[in-house]
Amino acid sequence: MKWLLCWHKKLKKMLVGWKPLHWFAFCALCLLALGAYWYIWASEVRIEETWSNAIKPLGRTATVTSGASVSLPLDNFDYEEQLVVLYNRVPKTGSTSFVNIAYDLCKRNKFHVLHINVTANMHVLSLPNQITFVRNVTKWHEMKPALYHGHMAFLDFSKFQIAHKPIYINIVRKPLDRLVSYYYFLRYGDNYRPNLVRKKAGNKITFDECVLSKQPDCDPKNMWLQIPFFCGHAAECWEPGSEWALNQAKHNLVNEYFLVGVTEQMEDFVDLLERSLPRIFHGFREHYQHSNKSHLRQTSWKIAPNDDTINTIHKTKIWQMENELYEFALAQFEYNKRKLTVPDNKHLQKFMYEKIRPK
Ligand SMILES: *[C@@H]1O[C@H](CO)[C@@H](O)[C@H](O)[C@H]1NC(C)=O
Ligand SMILES: *[C@@H]1O[C@H](CO)[C@@H](O)[C@H](O)[C@H]1NC(C)=O
Ligand SMILES: *[C@@H]1O[C@H](CO)[C@@H](O)[C@H](O)[C@H]1NC(C)=O
Repeated sequence: MKWLLCWHKKLKKMLVGWKPLHWFAFCALCLLALGAYWYIWASEVRIEETWSNAIKPLGRTATVTSGASVSLPLDNFDYEEQLVVLYNRVPKTGSTSFVNIAYDLCKRNKFHVLHINVTANMHVLSLPNQITFVRNVTKWHEMKPALYHGHMAFLDFSKFQIAHKPIYINIVRKPLDRLVSYYYFLRYGDNYRPNLVRKKAGNKITFDECVLSKQPDCDPKNMWLQIPFFCGHAAECWEPGSEWALNQAKHNLVNEYFLVGVTEQMEDFVDLLERSLPRIFHGFREHYQHSNKSHLRQTSWKIAPNDDTINTIHKTKIWQMENELYEFALAQFEYNKRKLTVPDNKHLQKFMYEKIRPK
């Protein structure tokens, strides 16, 4: 405190002794200091601006380039124009009616429909054919977007170094209905190709009589078809009664299939597809409802099985397992349908993004 007081006295003495010239010099010095300070400050700002201007666009390009270089193959992928839908149709499930809509609308909607014809209608592809088929479907760009259909078991594209797997769809039917339909189809054909002579033409045995006399054509083992179609290309899939196959089929049905409909609700199936994948399925529902129903394929003649036959079949393990898969698929389909409009069943479910940060 003492030294401050002393210093203050000294300053007072000095200031009193100052002449106007001293004051002028002092003010000039102050101004000079202020000016220098302002100059340095301003030039720093200018440098900063120059820097930020130089950096910002660089920064922007940098993020764009780095972002693009990281995700280029993904971002450039046109999910609409590269769309490939694979329908590995199970025989006698109404698949022809569905595929016919595709053939009617493929030109208008600008997509391709291709039938996969395997030697002798085999449902499992050989190893060389698996590779060829998977690569061909993936690389055949002139055919995209495409709907491939064929009577083949599920084939897992992820085993083949493929970046973009196709979207799988399918339709299932009550297993006994399917078997009966197939049984009479082999004997009487259908309205689709009425003049084609079928394998068992001329055979007049009814399904009931066949079950009574335990003939091979109505053997419940013939019902073992929807499970292996969903299960896939593994040997165990084709073992009638295999629990593993049933579980694998269920697993694939929910994990590998985009949508599985049921023959009994074809219109809802078509509707869900149209809403989800309009690039290919636009107008399918309208066409299904209003087009000439005569193009819908129907087995020409069939007798519904009697109660004894139904009871006999329902007691078999194969029917029970196939029915379990059917019920599983049906529950999943009903669930997907419900989610479209819940909770009020009147308005479509919507979603949006919000609270997007940083701004
Ligand atoms: C599959 O190809 C074979 C041999 O070319 C032919 O005979 C058969 O009719 C085709 N199958 C279908 C369903 O078109
Ligand atoms: C796919 O197979 C078809 C028929 O064999 C052939 O014409 C086409 O060139 C193939 N496409 C590719 C990309 O391999
Ligand atoms: C519907 O089918 C009938 C009989 O096959 C045919 O005469 C008619 O032209 C068809 N109509 C349409 C709109 O395709």
